[in-house]
Amino acid sequence: MGQNTDEISNRSEYGGSIPVDNVQALASKDLKDVPVRYLRPEIVSDEVLTDESLQIPVIDIGKLSVAGQPGYDDELAKLHLACKDWGFFQLINHGVSESIDAMKVVTKEFFKLGLEEKMKCAQTPTTIEGYGQAFVVSEDQKLDWGDMLFILPLPIPQRNLRFWPLNPPSFRATLDEYSNKLYGVSKELFKLMSINLGIDLETVSKLYENCTQGIRMNYYPPCLEADKVLGLAPHSDAVGLTLLVQVNEVQGLQIKKNSKWVPIKPIRGSIIVNIGDVMEIMSNGEYRSIEHRALVHLEKERLSIAAFHSPGIDTMIGPLTDGVNEKTAKYKTINTEDYTKLIISSKLDGKSLIEQMKIQ
Ligand code: OGA
Ligand code: NI
Repeated sequence: MGQNTDEISNRSEYGGSIPVDNVQALASKDLKDVPVRYLRPEIVSDEVLTDESLQIPVIDIGKLSVAGQPGYDDELAKLHLACKDWGFFQLINHGVSESIDAMKVVTKEFFKLGLEEKMKCAQTPTTIEGYGQAFVVSEDQKLDWGDMLFILPLPIPQRNLRFWPLNPPSFRATLDEYSNKLYGVSKELFKLMSINLGIDLETVSKLYENCTQGIRMNYYPPCLEADKVLGLAPHSDAVGLTLLVQVNEVQGLQIKKNSKWVPIKPIRGSIIVNIGDVMEIMSNGEYRSIEHRALVHLEKERLSIAAFHSPGIDTMIGPLTDGVNEKTAKYKTINTEDYTKLIISSKLDGKSLIEQMKIQ
């Protein structure tokens, strides 16, 4: 990751941001030219895989609900390979479609509101939550062609309702339900991955008890120079597991595989799951967090919702696989507070977080 040393390519979901223009408002202004801060002409030469047969694996979690049921062992093995070889997969039969559909509706409605209404949930200089732009740390940094609403629904006692829209009126109840359902799916996945990795299940349930969950609703307006901007610059997610849904039919997510960008074709109704940095560390490198990015469309808006899940703040982040010891650990073990500090400092330096967690 991070070929672009002049920009922060390993950003994550934490840290305050310098306020910049609202991109949706900018895009609606009949511009003749896209402002230069958004232009990344170098991406035109990036290698993008056009062979559509190469796609991320599809995991049927319906086959994994009861240990020993027909197909269970095969699907569990498939999940392990998906995590090892790809770090990305699509999840089907997850049983939370209703909740996803409802969340898509309120997300679309929120971004349709006027700027003033949306700004009622605006980020403040010291918060990571709210409506605004992903991590901007310097005045000359290239900018992403997108806006977002970021909220931390879990743990519940730490909710800050100031950032939860009151408009549309069903937004809060819908997000509350979505948070709960996606937490359930991610917990189940984490348990299944732990079985595959030989992580003790009691450790797993402790880690997940006070799970931190962030939900980021991304809005990428159309762009008249779509091939020269990025909706979201290349990054890996600093968290444990990310569950992403694409809200409308416009594709844009690409993942890096063998130094080429692979466009993801979402299956309708599926959840796209990816391994984050924390999961790479906990698996002692057996699973990898994969670099990905989002492109934008020339004429159509694109929306997505990412739900990030990490262990609670009272836990340690480090390798957890069976039998791992001081000699075999490939990553450091640190508390979540130090980990968060590391996320922020690595972003400020443009350094890769995961590299700094590696034991040399
Ligand atoms: C993210 C992310 C991809 C997308 O929010 O971290 O990678 O398709 N989003 O919007
Ligand atoms: Ni991401």
